[in-house]
Amino acid sequence: MSERPLVSERPLLVDLRSDTLTKPSQGMLEAMMSAPVGDDVYGEDPTVGALEQRAAELLGQEAALFCTTGSLANLLGIWLHVPPGGEVLCDSLAHIARAEMGAHGALHGVTMRTWTSDRGKLVADDVLAMLAIDCGPYLVETAAVEVEDTSNFGGGTVQNFDEVSRLSAELARLGIARHLDGARLANAAAATGRPLAEYGRIFDTVTLCLSKGLGAPIGTVLAGTAGDMVRARVQRKRLGGGWRQAGILAAAGLWALEHNLPRIAEDHVAARSFADAVAERMPSAVDPGSVETNVVLVDAAHARDTAAECERRGVRLSVLGPRTLRAVTHLDVTAEECASAGATVGEVLTQAL
Ligand SMILES: Cc1ncc(COP(=O)(O)O)c(C=O)c1O
Repeated sequence: MSERPLVSERPLLVDLRSDTLTKPSQGMLEAMMSAPVGDDVYGEDPTVGALEQRAAELLGQEAALFCTTGSLANLLGIWLHVPPGGEVLCDSLAHIARAEMGAHGALHGVTMRTWTSDRGKLVADDVLAMLAIDCGPYLVETAAVEVEDTSNFGGGTVQNFDEVSRLSAELARLGIARHLDGARLANAAAATGRPLAEYGRIFDTVTLCLSKGLGAPIGTVLAGTAGDMVRARVQRKRLGGGWRQAGILAAAGLWALEHNLPRIAEDHVAARSFADAVAERMPSAVDPGSVETNVVLVDAAHARDTAAECERRGVRLSVLGPRTLRAVTHLDVTAEECASAGATVGEVLTQAL
């Protein structure tokens, strides 16, 4: 029986579908191979312990929990704060609302109400106006608010820190929990120049994905109070997410924090090069000035056909909607490659498809 190849046999010029596509570097692989390990369900994996401690420090929280994915870390973070039948408020573009397969409702009985925004950027007063507090038996109570920074479907946009701080302080005063989906918090922090801990401290729980711009093959950390992390560890096991010699993977995460965190702003430069090259050929498709981090949204009259033609020419993009394409820059592509990919996309856009 002949086997279908797992990946396209055509050489690809640049794959910009996501920053999750990176392959571990030689240094990262060596760190993984030499990691001391133990059984993490017994709490005996020293490398997992080291990663959790490092992540907690970086994120300004007491403790952290190493999880397989950002989706699992969000699922646990929101579960900590929202009882079955309670609600979490979030942006209508939020990953938890659009791309976690309804897990929060399906598995934990959470209901969700969403606000709308300009490209995922929250306005504190809009969120505060939606809170449902002390509504007796008439309305679902708001138990938590979730913020995403950067906003993926907003186009890698960065939240205004003062706006988030104001919202956070008011929610704390009202006793409403705050969860930060920081899948790409490293990108937000690089863009604002603020330490990760400044973000972490104004939320009850915060996530940070190691497998996106940071280049690890797998893993997200959830950080919060020590007590909450004990509870989350139990729920993670209940969901089948307890793992054993996970230190092999935690070593990749530690390596990523040490080597790839400091260079993440390079991806923002590459994204801007891509956008500039598209806009030079097709100015209406993208405003390079709107590119804030490593994500570029491109307008295309026929997104699917455009993506197919770009792929034929060696550039891979994601299709986010009938008229929207997304390019995400990452460790495995250079700014020059991104500029060249942008030129290709711009040329395809100028041709009638
Ligand atoms: C903002 C955001 N949150 C969470 C996730 C989920 O991460 P994972 O794919 O590891 O489940 C993603 C994935 O792209 C994301 O973009």
